[in-house]
Amino acid sequence: MNNLKTILIVDDEAPMRKNLVELLSEEGYGLLQATDGLTAIEYAQTMRPHLILLDIKLPKMDGLSALKEIKALLPDVPVIVFTAHGTSERAIEAMKLGAYDYLEKPFKLDEFLLVVKRALGYSTLLNEVNELRAVQPRETVSPSAELVAGSGRMQDIFKLIGKAAPTDATVLIQGESGTGKELIANAIQRHSRRSDKPFVKVNCAALPETLLESELFGHARGAFTGAIAERKGRFELADGGTIFLDEISDMTPQLQTKLLRVLQQRSFERVGGKETITVDVRVIAATNKNLDAEMKAGRFRDDLYYRLNVMPIVVPPLRERPEDIPELVEHFIAKYGNHRKILISAESLAVLQRYSWPGNIRELENVIQRALVLATGSVITLDHLPLTVKAEGDLIPKELVWQSGIPLKRILADIEREIILKTLRQVNWNRTKAAEILQINRRSLFDKIKEHNIERDLP
Ligand SMILES: Nc1ncnc2c1ncn2[C@@H]1O[C@H](COP(=O)(O)OP(=O)(O)OP(=O)(O)O)[C@@H](O)[C@H]1O
Ligand SMILES: [Mg+2]
Repeated sequence: MNNLKTILIVDDEAPMRKNLVELLSEEGYGLLQATDGLTAIEYAQTMRPHLILLDIKLPKMDGLSALKEIKALLPDVPVIVFTAHGTSERAIEAMKLGAYDYLEKPFKLDEFLLVVKRALGYSTLLNEVNELRAVQPRETVSPSAELVAGSGRMQDIFKLIGKAAPTDATVLIQGESGTGKELIANAIQRHSRRSDKPFVKVNCAALPETLLESELFGHARGAFTGAIAERKGRFELADGGTIFLDEISDMTPQLQTKLLRVLQQRSFERVGGKETITVDVRVIAATNKNLDAEMKAGRFRDDLYYRLNVMPIVVPPLRERPEDIPELVEHFIAKYGNHRKILISAESLAVLQRYSWPGNIRELENVIQRALVLATGSVITLDHLPLTVKAEGDLIPKELVWQSGIPLKRILADIEREIILKTLRQVNWNRTKAAEILQINRRSLFDKIKEHNIERDLP
């Protein structure tokens, strides 16, 4: 057959190769197999497959090094990389080296086939791949700096980081407070070709307008009272490197205009200065407001918005990805546990996954830090979690299913009973505490306990 597409599978695990071969040959693809990086490069060169599936962990030559060589030899052949769960830095590295996509093992077969089909149909992304290829690989960064995430949505963000990092494109990171925007900005800088150049951070919400202006752009001597000497601004200090403009939506219209000019022409004047200064600075901006809405409300310049929004990264709030919580908890236990071997009870984890996390990952980080102080044994239990988290996370009667024909009164009574019971259990049947949490007086709590026939469970 003329249009038979050939796929090279590179994996040292025989069962994995066997599965993929079966699956893909059923789909009508021609298959090649290699068990190590060196053979993979040889086959890639001699057989010119249409697609390469590459495991990142390989004997003889590491998958990332193999990827680098393959991309140098065959820049136009898409490579899908398999990574182990939770190795975000390597996944980002792979994307940076020009991988078409990566899949975390174990992956779902339908998802896998979809990526394969997409990769084989791909051609318009070639320019991007070429650009990525030009970038020098770097040492993997320390694990302590690692961004943690299990969910598909965070994986997509890692892919974006990998794609955005090596370019000089302006990146706009949007997300609620505590979702990790600064961490993402750090990762982009770390993986960029400006990583050894200055990285300057400015919180635009922290200073009043006039101070912020001279902070960003510097000032000439005598520009204002107290300006006894001329001073370089952050943009000048960041020359050749990257500037991170945090809380960008807090900029006044006047400063927005000045920033727009910097983005368009990379030039500005110091406050009170005449000389035009030109800089080479990559801009990463972040905001916890919805900038699109700010723009529509007339508070943010639309031309500036479009200039900033070249590479948008939107970080989902933690409550939309409770599946990330176990991994994050593990990460924070390792980070703050002082090498103690500590586990978390399933019940506590369930409570954490049900809580709405208005402060997002920062709040979770604080909760775990606190729990580690309180937990003297080797398990974090409900006792070590703050009441606010338990009150909300533990009380949603999610088992309660609506059924037609049941009177509303009955349903409400059921919910009430369940909530009171859970609260009592949570505070170890201390009725004063329970009344406090439920915000009713002790008297009515006693009445309700009686009314609902609530009894203390046996120990
Ligand atoms: N994916 C993640 N993995 C591990 N830690 C994370 C992750 N995301 C955030 N954190 C941690 O949560 C805390 C808050 O992150 P960060 O400061 O980046 O959030 P932010 O979005 O910039 O918040 P704000 O809008 O309040 O400035 C940090 O201590 C950071 O280390
Ligand atoms: Mg921040």
